[in-house]
Amino acid sequence: MQDEQLEVGPLGEAERPDLVDLAVIGLGYVGLPLAREAASIGLKVLGLDRDPRVVEALNTGHSHVDDVSDDDVRRMRATGFTASTDDACLARAQAIVICVPTPLGKDGGPDLGAVTAATKAVALRLRPGQLVVLESTTYPGTTEEIVRPLLEESGLRVGVDFALAFSPERIDPGNTAHGLRTTPKVVGGCTPSCAARAVAFYGKLVDTVVQAKGTREAEMAKLLENTYRHVNIALVNELAVISHELHVDLWDAIRCAGTKPFGFQAFRPSPGVGGHCIPIDPNYLSYKVRSSLGYEFRFVELAQEINRRMPEYVVRRAQDLLNTAGRPLHGSRVLLLGVTYKPDVADQRESPALPVARLLREREAEVAFHDPHVPLWSVDGASIPRVPDVLAAVREHDLTILLQDHSAYDLPALGDAARLLFDTRGRIFRPGVEVL
Ligand SMILES: NC(=O)c1ccc[n+]([C@@H]2O[C@H](COP(=O)([O-])OP(=O)(O)OC[C@H]3O[C@@H](n4cnc5c(N)ncnc54)[C@H](O)[C@@H]3O)[C@@H](O)[C@H]2O)c1
Repeated sequence: MQDEQLEVGPLGEAERPDLVDLAVIGLGYVGLPLAREAASIGLKVLGLDRDPRVVEALNTGHSHVDDVSDDDVRRMRATGFTASTDDACLARAQAIVICVPTPLGKDGGPDLGAVTAATKAVALRLRPGQLVVLESTTYPGTTEEIVRPLLEESGLRVGVDFALAFSPERIDPGNTAHGLRTTPKVVGGCTPSCAARAVAFYGKLVDTVVQAKGTREAEMAKLLENTYRHVNIALVNELAVISHELHVDLWDAIRCAGTKPFGFQAFRPSPGVGGHCIPIDPNYLSYKVRSSLGYEFRFVELAQEINRRMPEYVVRRAQDLLNTAGRPLHGSRVLLLGVTYKPDVADQRESPALPVARLLREREAEVAFHDPHVPLWSVDGASIPRVPDVLAAVREHDLTILLQDHSAYDLPALGDAARLLFDTRGRIFRPGVEVL
């Protein structure tokens, strides 16, 4: 590598008053908290997003992200933060961090459209001395094979003229114990000097920076974390199905196994996996294995199959429960509580509540919902009625299914009030309540 010639340092133009320390591309669940953290330590920050509604809301002091409040945005604005839809702002940044979405394409493979669009926007304005970091979750090799060549089309060379690194985001929306600052940040550079530059940058924002050998290792670390969760969730979900048949209380078995002080981490059954990461990221890895090596990543494929089947299984158990009470699912009034993918957030991406509601409606159940974080909810274009008063509603519905255990729910009171209650989160253990 051409590293020995180079010291990629910050732009040597401190006299330019329009320069900022950081430009964040993609002001969503990942980018906005990063911009907030940087602004809070006095860095000059700009945000770039292609969605004008996001930009306008932020510039008028409104947040669209659960973990960032309107007050936070107002504080950011007070330090000079502005959001923009205009790529031109990138030329003013010493460091540029890309936090755009990496969804799946129609074929189930990675859709890196937003990453390449953002990278091309950077390349057009790339200037010597800039640090560029990709944070979007992606398969090993993306930074070197996709981002680097696009940036080098500018004529500037990585490790010589500019620094390039990958640093996976580990943000956990709704988690009040571990935030951006206190969660160690993994950083891998294209060259040693790129790594040094990125480590120094993140060292200002987080308490612990962990340097990976390179960008591929940093990319793989993120996919390993998410695949580990995905596979273990699938393991307990399959065990939940088996245990029900065997008349074993899996929740109690998990409680007992969880007392082992080493070698075991407890995962709990659920109606399926949701969110942007767990159902999607492992596909990036299986895509890479299939496209580069020509075979399947069997653990991921199996975990996907098992987790995908859970909504169907939940509906089957709900149907059995109604049947035992002498009612067909057809025409029954079913109330879904909690439609987001995790507790205490408003994020509904990939939430298993959607396929559960779809399957119930296909079987002609009358579906209503409640979620303290979701005012309006539709399934396949059909608006689902939201009940205003949870306790009154659980008394009136033939069956209540607890899909998400938001802390706002008074679980014992739900257990008292419901005619029939199916708890898919293992929170209400008492006679008469069915637990997944
Ligand atoms: N949400 C999480 O909990 C989480 C956690 C870890 C990692 N990640 C990863 O971080 C990345 C970003 O995820 P997110 O949840 O913040 O997404 P998000 O959808 O909340 O936000 C992404 C933002 O990027 C904007 N955008 C898209 N293309 C753009 C472009 N070309 N130029 C400028 N802006 C653009 C969108 O308008 C949107 O506002 C993804 O790769 C995701 O897998 C997410």
